[in-house]
Amino acid sequence: MVKSSFLLGEVELKNRVLVASGTFGYGDELKEAVDIGRLGGIVTKSLSVKRREGNAPPRIVETACGMLNSIGLANIGVEEFVAAKLPYLRTVNTAIVANIAASSIEEYCEVLRILEGEEGVDAFEINVSCPNVREGGLSFGANATMTGKITEELRRLTKKPLIIKLTPNVTHISEFARVVEDNGADAVSVINTVVGMAVDVETRRPKLSTVSGGLSGPAIKPIALAKVYECAQVVDIPIIGIGGIMSTADALEFLIVGASAVQVGTANYIDPGASVKIAEGITNYCEANGIDDVGKLVGSLESDKQLSVIHSWL
Ligand SMILES: Cc1cc2nc3c(=O)[nH]c(=O)nc-3n(C[C@H](O)[C@H](O)[C@H](O)COP(=O)(O)O)c2cc1C
Repeated sequence: MVKSSFLLGEVELKNRVLVASGTFGYGDELKEAVDIGRLGGIVTKSLSVKRREGNAPPRIVETACGMLNSIGLANIGVEEFVAAKLPYLRTVNTAIVANIAASSIEEYCEVLRILEGEEGVDAFEINVSCPNVREGGLSFGANATMTGKITEELRRLTKKPLIIKLTPNVTHISEFARVVEDNGADAVSVINTVVGMAVDVETRRPKLSTVSGGLSGPAIKPIALAKVYECAQVVDIPIIGIGGIMSTADALEFLIVGASAVQVGTANYIDPGASVKIAEGITNYCEANGIDDVGKLVGSLESDKQLSVIHSWL
């Protein structure tokens, strides 16, 4: 019998495969299509204080080996989530991770405070790839000091697992991983989408209403693997690997480079059952290879070389 479970802070996940924020709604939409009790966890769509309509269409474009989105954090707002979605989520037999988005530190704190008082939320994932209104719309997550401050403030408000989801759109992502570890986070999610754009050559207009957006899917997997590996060189807290995972082999790559768990995003648009299949596939791989605990794969990369780019701040 292979051990698949994983302890995230004090919360036990039944396996190491979760569904990623924004690609599985609030969980209830896909309950007919997926055996939700076989997921390691559900990460909700990002929640803000107030309902958000998001950006104007077009806000999804298919690209080679991936998709670009500029949804703009459209969501029902935290109060509506508590009233309309949480009652169902309390009944499911998997971990519920509430993802939070905000345009100020105060707003991050307010959303977390509301959810902290509610039964049914097991952990928090903080989406720092949001525009900071006080800093002219620059992403919080592009500023290490700000990322540290958000972590520090939220840490004071909860004892539940606090996961900070990092953006790859920075020079050295591991610098951010270290800052959030130093400020008390329990884990980092690596990575959010990669900035990209696409142009319609007939009209010479951008294909997204926002001009650029976030690239996801298989196109970003090699980037995500390198970012997870980079972070794994400098932090001891668990890393949740995300980016282009479509198959068991993809997920195994993330575990081997140092992710303790993974999230599956874009693949849900092709097959909402992908995560369940991948979780099973990982167990089968372990069985076939005489590995009694999936955790033994974490960081098991065989390599003669350390990360080739050793940064001055390491
Ligand atoms: C349509 C769409 C919406 C997303 N919405 C969110 C979101 O609300 N909050 C968040 O933290 N990440 C969001 N993401 C990012 C994913 O959770 C994930 O980090 C990213 O897509 C990379 O994983 P993938 O290649 O498996 O999709 C979204 C991604 C997509 C494709």
